[in-house]
Amino acid sequence: MTTTMTHQLNAELSRYKQRTMSAVTSNVLGEYRDIAQVVSQLQPDFPVHCFSPDDLRERVQLFLNNFPGQVGFAVKSNGEALIIEHLIESGIQFFDAASIAEIELVRSFHESIRILYDNPIKSRDEIEKAYYQYGVRSFALDDEIEFEKIQSIVDHDPSVQLSVRFKIKGSFAAQDLNTKFGASPEQAIELLDKINHAGYKAALTFHPGSQCYSPSAYKDFIYAAAMIAEKAEVKINMLNVGGGFPAQYLNSDTPPLLDFFLAIEEQFKRYFSRDECELVCEPGRALVVSSGTLLCRVKHRRQDNTIFLNDGIYGGFMEQLVAFFKLPVKVYRNSKLVLDSADDFKVYGPTCDPTDCFQESISLPASVQEGDYIEFGLTGAYGSATTTRFNGYSSDKYVIVKKASHFPE
Ligand SMILES: Cc1ncc(COP(=O)(O)O)c(C=O)c1O
Repeated sequence: MTTTMTHQLNAELSRYKQRTMSAVTSNVLGEYRDIAQVVSQLQPDFPVHCFSPDDLRERVQLFLNNFPGQVGFAVKSNGEALIIEHLIESGIQFFDAASIAEIELVRSFHESIRILYDNPIKSRDEIEKAYYQYGVRSFALDDEIEFEKIQSIVDHDPSVQLSVRFKIKGSFAAQDLNTKFGASPEQAIELLDKINHAGYKAALTFHPGSQCYSPSAYKDFIYAAAMIAEKAEVKINMLNVGGGFPAQYLNSDTPPLLDFFLAIEEQFKRYFSRDECELVCEPGRALVVSSGTLLCRVKHRRQDNTIFLNDGIYGGFMEQLVAFFKLPVKVYRNSKLVLDSADDFKVYGPTCDPTDCFQESISLPASVQEGDYIEFGLTGAYGSATTTRFNGYSSDKYVIVKKASHFPE
């Protein structure tokens, strides 16, 4: 072999290594003008999450301009590095992290941005890491055991803020989060008393449930927070009204976000003083849901209006198990929109598992066929975040789209 040939081979090998390395380290496949261009150029045979930075910026602005307090983001709803980066650029004011991995991710973009560690149950190792390694000073809890765990690590550091997560009776949302977490008002009073005596900053936090139906739920929780604080006779430094703000899925009949903000503002003013108590929210869904769509391909169509997609319940559609959120759809064939009359289809995902199926039929153009692409809107929250590797499939690839498809919201 000549020296030139060896050089050429080495150069080729190094290019190959670079290509495979970047494929491993990055799941973002590139930037495209619109979905039609993704379909025509990338022609993906795997599911692709399509992210619109413009939409995300608009949503962050909507919150920053109208929510009457500080606005954070619940990382659990979309922990993609790409999204975190754009949220920081858009001016998000803090992050709610549920794990050390989420804290590490946020810290990798911003050394000092405020992080609230709002998972009420944490191991001692996690608390220690968050406090010493990542400088976290705000923790949520809902029982005395967690209080003692935290105290054993942070001692009596007065810069530590402890938020008591409380719950009230009632059903307020598509996904009730208060079956797992939340102190009763009576327990919350006792916890506030302990926090106060130990010299920490006391705070209250609640979550009305994800995809909350009504602004009055926040009013009920804020009223309960005021009663808890009054009975405990403890100064509340921060009231965190959680997430829960709804998305406008096709089958959702929820008021606009501004009605939620107004209700919170009125009720907060009635019972708390802005000079003494900080008001914050930490939405996930409502901030990111409309900035993401999920582009899938039809693998197979049976004669009885059953279709099989290359993504499903174990991938980007896991939330469909929790509640049927009817997603808007568009169908593309040869990069053109298919617009013929609609019919109802039974839709399955790609795995060898019968659970991998949408709960309800989906209305699609009657001619939908193998090889077509279906773009599902409103998948930016709890989409890629919950994907698994079941059966060797996964739904973790992203593209950036400059001109997003127009879907409701
Ligand atoms: C503590 C906490 N904050 C915020 C959120 C975000 O909720 P959502 O996506 O409904 O806005 C969650 C969701 O599980 C949560 O557990």
